[in-house]
Amino acid sequence: MTPGSQHVTVPSLRARKIGPPLVMVTAYDAPTARVADEAGVDIVLVGDSVAMVVLGYDDTLQVTVDDMARHVAAVARTRPRALVVADLPWMSYHLSTDEAVRNAAVLIRAGAAAVKLEGGRRRLPVIDALLGAEIPVMGHLGLTPQSVHVMGGYRVQGQQVDAAEALIDDAVALAGAGCFAIVLECVPREVAAAVTRSVPVPTIGIGAGPDCDGQVLVFHDLVGLEDRVLPRFVRRYGSLRADAVAAVAAFGADVRAGRFPSDEESYHLTADVAAALGEPLSSRSRTA
Ligand code: KIV
Repeated sequence: MTPGSQHVTVPSLRARKIGPPLVMVTAYDAPTARVADEAGVDIVLVGDSVAMVVLGYDDTLQVTVDDMARHVAAVARTRPRALVVADLPWMSYHLSTDEAVRNAAVLIRAGAAAVKLEGGRRRLPVIDALLGAEIPVMGHLGLTPQSVHVMGGYRVQGQQVDAAEALIDDAVALAGAGCFAIVLECVPREVAAAVTRSVPVPTIGIGAGPDCDGQVLVFHDLVGLEDRVLPRFVRRYGSLRADAVAAVAAFGADVRAGRFPSDEESYHLTADVAAALGEPLSSRSRTA
């Protein structure tokens, strides 16, 4: 956090329907949170994408509230200027509103300022319960990865008239229920633009075109820390994976060639201690 800079808050974000586009990136640990915050993002999302990006699972359904709380706490300990939003994982808000509030409270106590949940109108009772417990909620519509099995894969959503209209109605309902922002994932640009015009809260797009009120990308994708085949909406701004492989390979080559560590990179005894040890030191040295 830059000294003296103002923390981003839920009300300040909600008011950003007007103004420069919002910038959100994922972060799952302290180093990536520090990078994102120093770069000046508005929102750090501790996404359940941690399941696939960091924990090696095939989908996001595997992470638990405890997993999420550990990552939220790591991010929050950096005390970022950016707003910290945490994903409610699958099955943490589907069984009852009481359980949803209890699970969201775990993430808030871990350091998040708000939670994000996936789904449209059927989530209204849960959103109402969370807001009733003073927990701000960000919505998430379109491609909702927690519904991967229902959707039959990770596919662009809202491509037909009925689906596009349902998406707009869902967004209006979420905003009406009190969500302070809505993520739109993998929907046609025209639908995202229509949603953005229809709701009084900011929309934040990922694979939803340039007409949203903000944009989000997964940190590891945008800095090139992954070499997976990327969807068309990801723009890579770095090649950290290639840099990291080159750095580790250079370390390995130096170790194998006896170039690392150097004498300057070693600790030394003072001359009198070395002299007092005398014979044992020379007889134990590798070259003796
Ligand atoms: O978990 C996540 O990273 C997300 C973003 C893709 C919006 O939900």
